[in-house]
Amino acid sequence: TDLKDFVEGMPKAELHVHLEGCLTPQLAAKLAARNKMSLPETVTKASTAEGFAFHDLTSFLAVYYPAMEVLQTANDFHDLAMDYLVKAHRHNVKHCELFFDPQAHTSRGIPFPIVVMGYRSALLQAQRAFGISASLIMCFLRDMSAEFAMATLMDALPYKDSIIGVGLDSDERDNPPSKFAAVFQRASKEGFFLTMHCDIDQKNSIEHIRQAIEEIQVDRIDHGTNIVEDTRLVDIVKTKGIGLTCCPISNSIVTRDFKGKEILELLRNDVKVTVNSDDPAYFRGYANENVLKVATDTDVERQELVQLQRNAFNISWISAWRRNHFL
Ligand code: HPA
Ligand code: ZN
Repeated sequence: TDLKDFVEGMPKAELHVHLEGCLTPQLAAKLAARNKMSLPETVTKASTAEGFAFHDLTSFLAVYYPAMEVLQTANDFHDLAMDYLVKAHRHNVKHCELFFDPQAHTSRGIPFPIVVMGYRSALLQAQRAFGISASLIMCFLRDMSAEFAMATLMDALPYKDSIIGVGLDSDERDNPPSKFAAVFQRASKEGFFLTMHCDIDQKNSIEHIRQAIEEIQVDRIDHGTNIVEDTRLVDIVKTKGIGLTCCPISNSIVTRDFKGKEILELLRNDVKVTVNSDDPAYFRGYANENVLKVATDTDVERQELVQLQRNAFNISWISAWRRNHFL
């Protein structure tokens, strides 16, 4: 088969997709009209027919947060999640674990239950309609306080049926994992799985990866490909089976390097690396495009492309999801 057909036909799992990063300019315009709002100027300016346009993390976050203004009702959150799930189904994604940023909504007056109920109804509807399994990972915004994160964790306790884990995203500069040690310890005690963004090209990125592994005891790391610089940490993630959720197209835009070399090196060293789409509406690539990027821009073999998906199913928290939903 043709490589593109091979990639498109592979059953996939996605473990690193931000629901708010699935807001396309088209959906933002539709929701703005429905809510009788006008789109913020920063959002309109960055909109193109292919998706949003920007050039680094700062300019991305400067569009990402204002665009969320259009999300007002549970129905809006439902439609946002459904927009992604329909596309994921077309990309042969069988299982996904979706990040969301509740504090980006509660901080502008949207109640926590509105956000979760809207997302949850879409996940259940997609499961019934096309058999895709999907659950939520709640991210704390690391540029906000640990106290706000802890209060958000308390808000999430009644929703353990759909929220299986907690993560950490937004601006990593001067916001190390250790800032949230108490929050993650409590989350683990409550039964949530743990993951964290350890972004590449970050000044203290190796130290942040070390903290995530040794002090927080994460189950996964999001991005984290520059762990290749530290063989001791590589040995630890191999021993503990800690997986890495890498995002090639996102990295190619935010850091101008898709990290194909690092992904392949880690894969061939038996580290459980995976390929994911991060913020597909913003980085203009869903599951197939991200796998294709690795397939065409590295010397990866087809068997190894399959291994990347095996890794994703293996490091997924699907068994916990089944426990919550069926047993
Ligand atoms: N990096 C940091 N924070 C984020 C991202 C990202 O790519 N997407 C959503 N929140
Ligand atoms: Zn991310």
